[in-house]
Amino acid sequence: MQEVVENRAVTFKGRNDPNEITSETLNLGTCYSDDEIVIQVHAAALNPVDLLVKAYAYSWIAGSEPKTFSRDYSGIIVRKGKHIEEFDVGDKVVGTFDHLFGKEGSLSNYLTLDPKKHPSITKMPSFGDSEYDDFVLNAAWPLVFGTAYMGLGLLDKSQNLGPGSRILVIGASTSVSNALVQIAKNHLKVKSVVGICSKSSFERNKELGFDHLVAYDEGPVTDGVKNLIDTEFNGGKFDLIFDSVGNSEFIPRIEDFLKPISENSYYRTIVGDAKLKYTSPSVLRSFIPTEFFKRFGPFKKYNYKNFLLAPSKNYMELGAKMISAKEFKPSIDSVFGFDDYADAFDRLLSNRAKGKIVIKVT
Ligand SMILES: NC(=O)c1ccc[n+]([C@@H]2O[C@H](COP(=O)([O-])OP(=O)(O)OC[C@H]3O[C@@H](n4cnc5c(N)ncnc54)[C@H](OP(=O)(O)O)[C@@H]3O)[C@@H](O)[C@H]2O)c1
Repeated sequence: MQEVVENRAVTFKGRNDPNEITSETLNLGTCYSDDEIVIQVHAAALNPVDLLVKAYAYSWIAGSEPKTFSRDYSGIIVRKGKHIEEFDVGDKVVGTFDHLFGKEGSLSNYLTLDPKKHPSITKMPSFGDSEYDDFVLNAAWPLVFGTAYMGLGLLDKSQNLGPGSRILVIGASTSVSNALVQIAKNHLKVKSVVGICSKSSFERNKELGFDHLVAYDEGPVTDGVKNLIDTEFNGGKFDLIFDSVGNSEFIPRIEDFLKPISENSYYRTIVGDAKLKYTSPSVLRSFIPTEFFKRFGPFKKYNYKNFLLAPSKNYMELGAKMISAKEFKPSIDSVFGFDDYADAFDRLLSNRAKGKIVIKVT
């Protein structure tokens, strides 16, 4: 392989600047340290966090240098430093590259990283799928799978969900919830997973593993879920309520839905208490101030976690294992060529994607 290559990337400078493809040369002979690998990226996936990060890219926070989009990647290692033992040149790898306003991102031809500092990386499992190639499917899972893994309390080991547990998922159609239901059903063997989604998504989400579904476009969701508790669960409440869209309807009557704190039940959210507008998010709007003392401090009434994905090898290993065992597969909404990245972002902005939006980089 030639030493000096072109590295194209989809970048932006500030929140009001356009996204564009920028290009620079990269010397593959010198661009990495002894602790780093260089990955030729084959596919990258978009995540709503890309839109949120850009919306907060004020110059006084983020500077005015170009920043590269995206975190999820799949690709092949083309160079490695002499201290790297776990990986070899030629290995196919998959991971999520954690960064905020980084010069590097996964929506680029090459990614140089230290696997110790970016531990969400593993050798690429094969899906053996006939519709999508392995690079596309692999780019589609690390970030959402890791978030779902944390949402189930598996990373901090705060909860021990199993066959006897009940889970309520607000936002059953999101990609994170898609991963969560597969981990819950196929790995943890949870008996009852209830999801809330639009009526038109019932069939899809049933196929993906949800046991019961409640439509948010057919009357108050709290009534629908309460009805399930009474008729299907004999009054039994949930061990976990997981919110991936930002819905606060359950909060005022949380004791009607969540088991008592003494039973180690949890309300976990990845979005806060209100649905974010991706282009003009308001962090303050997404917290209900009156709930503060019910969630934190010595008199808290329920376990509440609003969390961000943390880098970890643990969920990459479980994901690869489940994929090889055919126990997990991400849904793909659409696949775009690198030069069509603007269409991919439009699809993400629609908030109607059913599965991951993947960009073929190479
Ligand atoms: N904290 C973290 O670390 C973290 C990590 C990943 C993602 N996130 C956040 O989690 C959210 C989900 O991300 P994602 O990538 O999984 O989403 P996504 O796949 O883009 O979600 C799209 C789906 O959301 C559903 N939806 C839209 N409005 C809804 C509503 N009002 N109620 C219920 N469902 C609705 C739609 O399906 P239906 O119309 O069929 O319901 C749509 O298909 C995003 O806000 C993202 O920023 C946070």
